Amino acid sequence: MFEILKREEMAEGSVVLNEISAPRIAEKAKPGQFVILKANETGERIPLTMADTDPKKGTITIIYQVVGKSTNLFKSLQVGEKYQDVIGPLGKATHLEKVGNVVCVGGGTGVAVIHPITRALKELGNNVKAIIGARTKDLLILEDKMKAASHEFFVCTDDGSYGHHGFVTAVLKDILEKEDIQLVVAIGPVPMMKFVCKITEEYKVKTIVSLNAIMVDGTGMCGCCRVSIGGETKFACVDGPEFEGHLVNFDELSQRLQAYLAEEAIANEKYACACKAG
Ligand SMILES: Cc1cc2nc3c(=O)[nH]c(=O)nc-3n(C[C@H](O)[C@H](O)[C@H](O)COP(=O)(O)OP(=O)(O)OC[C@H]3O[C@@H](n4cnc5c(N)ncnc54)[C@H](O)[C@@H]3O)c2cc1C
Ligand code: FES
Repeated sequence: MFEILKREEMAEGSVVLNEISAPRIAEKAKPGQFVILKANETGERIPLTMADTDPKKGTITIIYQVVGKSTNLFKSLQVGEKYQDVIGPLGKATHLEKVGNVVCVGGGTGVAVIHPITRALKELGNNVKAIIGARTKDLLILEDKMKAASHEFFVCTDDGSYGHHGFVTAVLKDILEKEDIQLVVAIGPVPMMKFVCKITEEYKVKTIVSLNAIMVDGTGMCGCCRVSIGGETKFACVDGPEFEGHLVNFDELSQRLQAYLAEEAIANEKYACACKAG
């Protein structure tokens, strides 16, 4: 059993942070990897990326958006309560190296995922700019941490309530126009990653994205998380979740995520089996 040691609500309670005791996972986990959690015996398996790990304390931190049945169940868990299962670390770790000038773009809860990657890229000696965005000021998360993890920091809100008025892509385009950038890492909603890739393709800048495909087993067995990368089928759970953005078929990914929602609307219940979700 995996005890919750710290619990914090962010973005008006729509995002929750849990620090969980999981010593064996904390010892091995690297930035970019994820875990699959189950709250109780009848709960579903939900993939979440580790936002932080502390091998000395034996803890991992997850930050999740409360969107449906399982994340609402997770939200009801308080400090001292336990997740029944936490499996991981899963997926490939982010390939981290010194490349020069890097821009890290995070949207929504993608900011939680990109934070450890941004910090590691800075520690490796890269010059790191960070851009984070949210629909409105109250939904922004980890602003201070992203500021500390980067050399130059930009914040955007869709409604102009804070920082730059508009999307993260506008700030990114501005940077690419003025500076020589070697790598962009973008993690957030699928449309955000798709449009970041369209822009970076124009400027011929290598771009890494993290794909939140529907997952069931997380170990390459069910085929549920299949994505098309450069015309080839890959499994996001074992071949990813990070891929070269310019090779990703984002329209297919969006379609597969929407198909799941449509099924859910018809049946008004959640599916956890590969035959229906996949
Ligand atoms: C590798 C990976 C890492 C992720 N990391 C994070 C993270 O750090 N923070 C965060 O907020 N979210 C993350 N997600 C998304 C998160 O898993 C979903 O939001 C969550 O599963 C929703 O479950 P629900 O029952 O509350 O919502 P539901 O209402 O059932 O679903 C809402 C939407 O969530 C997605 N979803 C539902 N079940 C799954 C599933 N089994 N696998 C993948 N997506 C699903 C679908 O797009 C669905 O339409 C990640 C997804 C993946 C694949
Ligand atoms: S979740 Fe990737 S193959 Fe099953």
